[in-house]
Amino acid sequence: VPKEFQAMKDAHELLRKFYHHLLVNTKEGQHALEYLYGRGFSQESIDKFQIGYSLASWDFVVKFLSKRNFIPEWMEKAGLIIQRERDGTYFDRFRDRIMFPIFDRNGSTIAFSGRSLGGEDPKYLNSPETAIFNKSKILYNYHQAKSSIKKLQYAVLFEGFADVIAADRAGIENGIATMGTSLTDEHIALLRQSVQSIVICYDSDNAGVQAAYRSGNLLQDAGFELKVAMMPDGMDPDEYIKKYGPEKFRHEVIDASLTWMGFKFLYFRRGKNLQNEGDRLNYIEEIIKEISKLPMAVERDHYLRQLAAEFSLSLDALKQQQKEFYFAEK
Ligand code: CTP
Ligand code: MN
Ligand code: MN
Ligand code: MN
Ligand code: MN
Repeated sequence: VPKEFQAMKDAHELLRKFYHHLLVNTKEGQHALEYLYGRGFSQESIDKFQIGYSLASWDFVVKFLSKRNFIPEWMEKAGLIIQRERDGTYFDRFRDRIMFPIFDRNGSTIAFSGRSLGGEDPKYLNSPETAIFNKSKILYNYHQAKSSIKKLQYAVLFEGFADVIAADRAGIENGIATMGTSLTDEHIALLRQSVQSIVICYDSDNAGVQAAYRSGNLLQDAGFELKVAMMPDGMDPDEYIKKYGPEKFRHEVIDASLTWMGFKFLYFRRGKNLQNEGDRLNYIEEIIKEISKLPMAVERDHYLRQLAAEFSLSLDALKQQQKEFYFAEK
């Protein structure tokens, strides 16, 4: 069995190099390279993240691997090729896509995610779960980010590959991302080994804000110190960096991250019209509940004052209400 796993990794390793070569040095890869440049990817990023290109061929990988004596059954189990039911022949899983290799924490290539160049679905095609690749355990870029994470003592958690790569170009080298899945307990366990503070920097669209609330609660419960970085106009980090540049991203997004409580103030406000009395009361109640969850009295006091000031409420009334929630929680 270990022999099978080694062959799977070896095949990924070879393909990673070849895909990268196709992107950077060949005519076939030129349109893909131009696509990446058009999106603001630099030559350096393309090298550092070993980005590649898979040919628009049905059997390039099938032939490439069989020429090198890889056993087709194993290569199918590795997710690189797919068997046709009709006649038992094989075809390539990834065709005409920008290839993002996925590395394990030791730097072995164990999977790929292929982005379509045009509008074809799915936008990102991932390797399936295999004996060497488990999506819920992998954090994209962890193997490269971990030294920076240890040095800076925090990690920045993004939603997508493009965000990690754009942020890296902007000098944020401690960025990681899940692979299109929600954050799992296994991801959290992995993070815990190296860090206590996380900045969540998900897309600022509706889905991203919802996901940030979910991940934030999990990380909070796991004892991490948390911040949340947000961008204007529902942008994602990659779009923001392309539009406003690295400086602005570092200073006005990362350095300006909200505290977890500050984020929740914004979160509960979404979709509410605070001029409307019902919405306003709802909002105040939700925030007081959140304040009740805070462990330290000084913190609770701080946010109650903030709330009282904002809505011209009496601090005593808020405190009374908060105590009721606080004891209801116990
Ligand atoms: N994703 C996926 N399958 C899809 C769409 C998204 O696996 N069909 C995952 C990818 O890992 C992607 C992440 O979810 O990076 C975030 O999705 P999205 O914000 O839609 O993509 P972006 O990262 O912004 O991708 P791009 O900038 O290339 O459009
Ligand atoms: Mn190179
Ligand atoms: Mn998104
Ligand atoms: Mn996005
Ligand atoms: Mn994007």
